Order: sequence, then structure tokens, then C-alpha cells
Amino acid sequence: MTVRHFLSLLDFSADELRALINRAIELKRMQREGQEHLPLKGKVLGMIFEKSSTRTRVSFEVGMIQLGGQAIFLSPRDTQLGRGEPIEDTARVLSRMVDGIMIRTFEHEKVERFAAYSRVPVINGLTDLEHPCQLLADLQTWFEHRGDIAGRTVTYVGDGNNMCNSYINAAQRLGFTLRAACPEGYDPDPDLLAAAGDAVSVVRDPADAVWNADLVVTDVWASMGQEDEQAARRRAFSDYVVDAALMELANPDALFMHCLPAHREEEVSTEVLEGPQSVVWDEAENRLHAQKALLEFLLA
Ligand code: CP
Ligand code: NVA
Repeated sequence: MTVRHFLSLLDFSADELRALINRAIELKRMQREGQEHLPLKGKVLGMIFEKSSTRTRVSFEVGMIQLGGQAIFLSPRDTQLGRGEPIEDTARVLSRMVDGIMIRTFEHEKVERFAAYSRVPVINGLTDLEHPCQLLADLQTWFEHRGDIAGRTVTYVGDGNNMCNSYINAAQRLGFTLRAACPEGYDPDPDLLAAAGDAVSVVRDPADAVWNADLVVTDVWASMGQEDEQAARRRAFSDYVVDAALMELANPDALFMHCLPAHREEEVSTEVLEGPQSVVWDEAENRLHAQKALLEFLLA
């Protein structure tokens, strides 16, 4: 039997993604009702973090514990990965000991190489190219508040980064329209864009992009690893702030999402982030429930 991995939303079919989202909603209810559910008893998830994290680390760790298993945190500082042990060797060794592996790193190609050598499922906990786990949580949040997302219009405002790329994949799989408002020079990945076809368009003017949208999403202007570009990016993105005036152009019942951490008064105004259309705290919480559904699917 071939091992399933979750390196990209595109690794799963539309039916599988919808089933995961619905299962996440169910697991959330079960957790709230105090129901014990231990399908991963005795299982261990290895978690490799080559970048910082609050939500991803805590949600995977807590998720494994709630499902009856355990998670171990591995940083390059304390493992041989940081001293140059090849990813292929690390994959072969770790996957003979643990039942699943989550990786957060820079190059997407690194998680692909890891998965190619792993006997157990590998989960992408964020690469420079994609952040599929965040999309599971965002989609769950949308489904909880508004139902299915097919046929809706989503606008992503800002950098054509990992979040934008994963929204492109989601539009392709789940049949919604995505408008990405990115300044020139900061477009999303051309291959993912081409694969999504008519579902996605890149628009320069954020006002045009947000008009009539059902969901407005943004993310930081400088992602992890781009700290040196912060000043140049602040200049390039100055017209791409999601503020109340921009939100006015969306549908009156539009939702606002941000994967967090957020920079208030940079990519989003405090008024919008803390306002009635913002569902960012549900979105953050849903990292836990969505990943529990994913872990159950891949490891149980
Ligand atoms: N949204 C997200 O992935 O947050 P962390 O960087 O805190 O994991
Ligand atoms: N685009 C951001 C997302 C953080 C969760 C980054 O890669 O740093």
C-alpha cells in the first residue's frame, strides 16, 4: 500500500477535503462535549520545525494528545539535521520509529524529498511555497459560518506567498473564485496559478479585487525568512492594507481571515482584525480540530 502524504491541498481530492472539513467540525463538537476519542493510542508524531511556530506546534501537539497519541518536537538546533545529515537519511531513520512526521521548513522540495524516503505519512506544516494545514482550518471556519464555499468569491490581499498559493489550490479543488490582489513583483507561484485556470485571477488594484467578495483574507508582507526585505516590502505593499474602507467594498456579510501572527496597522487595521467581520480566533482554534481530522485520516 502506498503511503499518503499531505504536502499540498492538491494531494487530496475535493471529496476528501470536504470529508476532512466535516470531520473536523464533528471532532470539535466531540471535544466540546468532553467525549473521549483515542484512535491514535500508542502512536507518535515527529515534528521537525526549521522555522518558528506557535499555532502549528501547539495544535499538532495537543491534537496528538487528545487523540491518545504523543508528539515529539525536533529542532535543527538539537538534531543532526542542523549539522548537515541528509534529509533522505533523516527520513529513513525517523520513519522507522514514528508513525507520522510533520515538517515546517523553507524549501518545498525538502518536504517532497523527505516524503519520497519516508515509510510513514508526511505532513507539510508550512514551506515557502504552501501552507495547506492553515487552509484546512480556514475552510473549516468558512463552512461553520457560511456553509459550502463552492461558487463563492474569495479575495486574498497582499503577498503572493505560501498562504496565497494554498488559497489558489483550494479554489481549484473546491470550486470557488479567487482574486489575488498582489503588487507587481509579488505574484503567486506561476505553476500553481496555471494549474488553477479560470478559478483564479491576479488583480493589481485591491479595491477591484475586494469588490463584492464573500471572504477577504490577508497575511504578513514579509514571511519567515524574508526579514531582510521588511523595509522594501513595507513600501511595495503600502496600498494593500485591509482596512475598514476596503472591507466596505466587499459583501456586507463578508468574513475576514488572517492566519496569524498579524501585524496591526501594517497588512490589516486593528479595526478590521478586531471587528465583527473578523473570524481570526475561530480560524486559529480550528487549526487544532482540522489537524485532528487530518491525523486521524492519515495515522489511524
Ligand atoms: N498560522 C500559523 O501557522 O501560525 P504559527 O506560525 O504560529 O504556527
Ligand atoms: N506567510 C507566513 C505565514 C505564517 C504562518 C510565513 O510564511 O511566515
